[in-house]
Amino acid sequence: MSEATTELDPFERFNRAQGLGTVRSPYPRLAEWRRQAPLRRLQLDDMAAGMRLQGRMLFGGELPPFFVALSHDAVAEILRDGERFSSAGYARTIGRVLGHSILEMDEPEHARVRGVIQQAFSKRALEHWQHDLVSPIVNGLIDRFAARGHADLVRELTFPFPVSVIAHMLGLPEQDHATFHRLAVELISLAIDPALGFAASLALREMFARVLAERRRVPTDDLISVLAHAELDGARLDDEAIGAFARLLAPAGAETTYRSSSNLFFGLLSHPEQLDAVRRDRSLVPQAIEEGLRWESPLPGIQRTCTRDTEVQGVAIPAGAIILVSMASANRDETRYERPDEFDIFRPAKTHMAFAFGPHRCLGMHLARMESRVVLEAALDRLPNLRLDPEAKDPHITGELFRSPLELPVLFDT
Ligand code: HEM
Repeated sequence: MSEATTELDPFERFNRAQGLGTVRSPYPRLAEWRRQAPLRRLQLDDMAAGMRLQGRMLFGGELPPFFVALSHDAVAEILRDGERFSSAGYARTIGRVLGHSILEMDEPEHARVRGVIQQAFSKRALEHWQHDLVSPIVNGLIDRFAARGHADLVRELTFPFPVSVIAHMLGLPEQDHATFHRLAVELISLAIDPALGFAASLALREMFARVLAERRRVPTDDLISVLAHAELDGARLDDEAIGAFARLLAPAGAETTYRSSSNLFFGLLSHPEQLDAVRRDRSLVPQAIEEGLRWESPLPGIQRTCTRDTEVQGVAIPAGAIILVSMASANRDETRYERPDEFDIFRPAKTHMAFAFGPHRCLGMHLARMESRVVLEAALDRLPNLRLDPEAKDPHITGELFRSPLELPVLFDT
């Protein structure tokens, strides 16, 4: 593909935006560390290239102590306790392009704002989104290739659908959707191209401000209208808070769902007997989704800052330390899951950490699960005998800061 074409392709850009080093499997090293201790102090050499680059960019030469939380119990203890382990550190990273969103808030501000926002994610809203947005978007994409007998499920289905869902949910005018998709990609380019990230942040701010001004005058049933008029104990969201939340949805809502549904397809397609079982018995879909999230969490880790000298699972952590909380490691903790590296939709049900835990647990997890269900069911209904293309060159999941397959070439009967 020529450079000029690459420049215009949101998919290539997206992967480049994430491309801080390619890590095929971080799991053997995480397992080795986890067997040694529930948390580990990271030396610069331990850190993967992307992490090092981000660390240097954010803290200059003077890096604070870095730890990685590895065991399920350590991860749960840290995420449960927002007072000892603050989220404010995001203000130095992704917050620079998102603005002051709930992601970087601590209590009590966080609970107040989250309480207002949560009203927009009601059960009724979810049903409306499923029937009026997610299902038509997913089926519209499948229409484009269903008669062809082959497709790349990533590029043609799992990559484009979640961002389209978010654009519709927010109530952006149809003519802005392509620009929204491009800006959503550029926004998260912050670590490799800060100027592009900041420009995208500004452009999104203006795009949302136009919609918001309109919805304050004439509300409709979209997310921005609901947020503009929602109230909790007399508290309302100002324009800045709504703008920051809308910007957060691009990485939080679109990118994670694209990757988790790709990982789910990969898990099933590379285990055809489990795919067959799901095809025959659709009541297995929810447990397949949870196993996909546990086995390959799209967002392998998040960060917290330690607010005081403390101890977690017997390991001393100084105030100011940055903790990389590895959900990927927690989800493969052998003391909690038998044969943790295996994808097995029939394993005994146990909660996982892919959506995090505690006060910041993913606000969109029910939406994410619904989107995964809709896309998987639609693929099974409409693409008979769906299977990996045997000619495909080594399809696999990859990535360090985010994980998913770059392509999923499939065949199906027509
Ligand atoms: C499978 C897909 C998804 C995964 C794996 C995922 C994962 C996560 C994780 C790990 C967090 C915690 C971040 C932290 O505290 O540092 C989070 C927070 C969040 N997620 Fe998701 N997410 C997914 C889908 C979605 C969707 C579809 C939406 C909404 C449209 C969404 C909206 C949010 C929001 C608003 C937060 C911030 C919550 C808070 O700070 O209180 N997510 N998500």
